[in-house]
Amino acid sequence: MHHFNYDLTERLKIQNPLQLLESFGLKPGMKILDLGCNDGFYALAALKIVGPRGFYYGIDVDQVAVDNLRFKLEQRDYKNYSLDILPAEDFLLKDQKFDFILLVTALHDFAKPKKVLKNLRLMSNSNTLLIDYDFRADIISNFGPPQNIRFSLDLASNIIKQAGFKHINAAIYDQNYYLIKAKV
Ligand SMILES: C[S@@+](CC[C@H](N)C(=O)[O-])C[C@H]1O[C@@H](n2cnc3c(N)ncnc32)[C@H](O)[C@@H]1O
Repeated sequence: MHHFNYDLTERLKIQNPLQLLESFGLKPGMKILDLGCNDGFYALAALKIVGPRGFYYGIDVDQVAVDNLRFKLEQRDYKNYSLDILPAEDFLLKDQKFDFILLVTALHDFAKPKKVLKNLRLMSNSNTLLIDYDFRADIISNFGPPQNIRFSLDLASNIIKQAGFKHINAAIYDQNYYLIKAKV
């Protein structure tokens, strides 16, 4: 498990979850899966955008982080969410499709990223939008995940493609991040 080596205040200077999720295409009424959700840096923004008719599903292996997120959501009286503590590799709801799947600085952390993406393919329909937003491997930065575990844009795109996502839009996002948008 890898954690960011920069604090929340620093992170908020370079990542605004509400703006980012809107720009990625999250919309009211959507059912979003946040894989590797940790303590919910994106959860509150996601629930704000999807609104009462949408749904937020968060998965992480880190029990403390998920318990913290649960506490935050309970305090705000949200009802339209589920949180599970389990490896993403074991998360497969065979009869459910998500509208929006979010992977933020998570794919390279999974033990079996290919298996996770195959599960995600099975929980996607033709409208599902998969987002992989992560630190670039081609630049050296003194924050974010260690350089040696980052995925290059090509590697991440290929794993996503091999899992059965066909429409892949992969690009450098800014000086720190890449962004991949994919559909089946
Ligand atoms: C670098 S953090 C990013 C968290 C969150 N997406 C964010 O942007 O704040 C990566 C997260 O992936 C989780 N993780 C690592 N391996 C996992 C796995 N196999 N299944 C689910 N979550 C996992 C970690 O516990 C951690 O919370």
